[in-house]
Amino acid sequence: MKLRNTIILPSLWVLGAVGVLACGGVRPSATADEGSLKQAIGDRFLIGTALNVRQSSGRDTAALRVVKRHFNAIVAENCMKSAEIHPEEGRYHFDDADALVNLGEANGLTVTGHCLIWHSQLPRWFAVDKEGKPVSAEVLKARMKEHISTVVGRYKGRIKGWDVVNEAIVEDGSYRKTPFYDILGEEFIPLAFQYAHEADPDAELYYNDYGMDNPGRRDGVVRLVKQLKERGLRIDAVGMQGHLGMDYPDIHAFETSMMAFAATGVKVMITEWDMSALPTLTRSANISDISDTAAFRQALNPYPVALPDSVSQRWNARMKEFFNLFVKHSDVVTRVTAWGVTDGDSWKNNFPMPGRHDYALLFDRAYQPKPFVKEIITH
Ligand code: G3I
Repeated sequence: MKLRNTIILPSLWVLGAVGVLACGGVRPSATADEGSLKQAIGDRFLIGTALNVRQSSGRDTAALRVVKRHFNAIVAENCMKSAEIHPEEGRYHFDDADALVNLGEANGLTVTGHCLIWHSQLPRWFAVDKEGKPVSAEVLKARMKEHISTVVGRYKGRIKGWDVVNEAIVEDGSYRKTPFYDILGEEFIPLAFQYAHEADPDAELYYNDYGMDNPGRRDGVVRLVKQLKERGLRIDAVGMQGHLGMDYPDIHAFETSMMAFAATGVKVMITEWDMSALPTLTRSANISDISDTAAFRQALNPYPVALPDSVSQRWNARMKEFFNLFVKHSDVVTRVTAWGVTDGDSWKNNFPMPGRHDYALLFDRAYQPKPFVKEIITH
């Protein structure tokens, strides 16, 4: 069943449903037991999830049941990053990435490659010589080209699109000072897009970043996209990671950025969607007041057993707001990907402190859809 433009709040739901059915509306809703997220979303945009190696290798069968029923796209959470797939110069480790691509093909799931050039999870050898000193521009260009050509070339025609460069722009819109920038300047980005396109001319190419509601980063990314297009380089979409909190970002600022990126002529993807249900701790506001470790750990991990209903309701309402935003702009949004299958898989359980209990994803630790997801399925 196709989603209408927004999900009606429960209080208006009955009227809405009667209204839709009364005017010869869509088919009766699916039940939560039979429907699926991807069926409810239809062709508005791909709905995907990141997979860890337990899932892409087939070991996490419970998660894979959720993936196959509810999603039509997958992305590697870690196994395609350079430190994992190219741990030493001249040595690649493709087993995990191969398993993920094979899983996608066997189940009709669109596969996204994440990510080719990123300063984090970069193997130590990549930007330094044997003495540990930064390599020359020529050497780094050759290494980037070899890495990208080998990885993208291996999955040519099998991976729909790549996060070519990840997190290269900081909050004021300037370039992040990474080894790539230090050695090659701004040029490393067009080079990465050029190498990826040469390796697979049909693959879509994306720039991916977080905190994209921030006006400085928004303007910096718009400049970057325009520069790539002016040079005739392929860029198909901007990936807005979408790591959200209960009190950030402002949804209107997020929407402004979506529109700014779309205005450059590229599509928009929500590439790493999650929402921490835990309080945002800032050093000034909270942590400096906490003198002992127990209080510190309690503040960072306030709901170790279950989320209070009041917090869960606010979390679901805010997630529904963002989902409705993506549906509203489904003319430019081509993919929404959750950064993990269930709450138990989320990186937010280990950041900013290991051993937290967060509730950041679309399915809970019992592999059940969250209430807002059930509403989408049964709407
Ligand atoms: O593979 C090693 C394993 O051998 C070792 O035993 C284990 C314990 O040390 O660590 C494992 O590596 C971990 C890796 O995830 C794979 O599980 C790293 O320590 C851990 O830091 C790494 O975290 C990932 C993080 O990126 C690294 O920055 C998260 O899973 C992943 O969700 C997160 O994803 C990033 C996106 O790629 C880019 N956008 C931000 C997002 C969140 O940081």
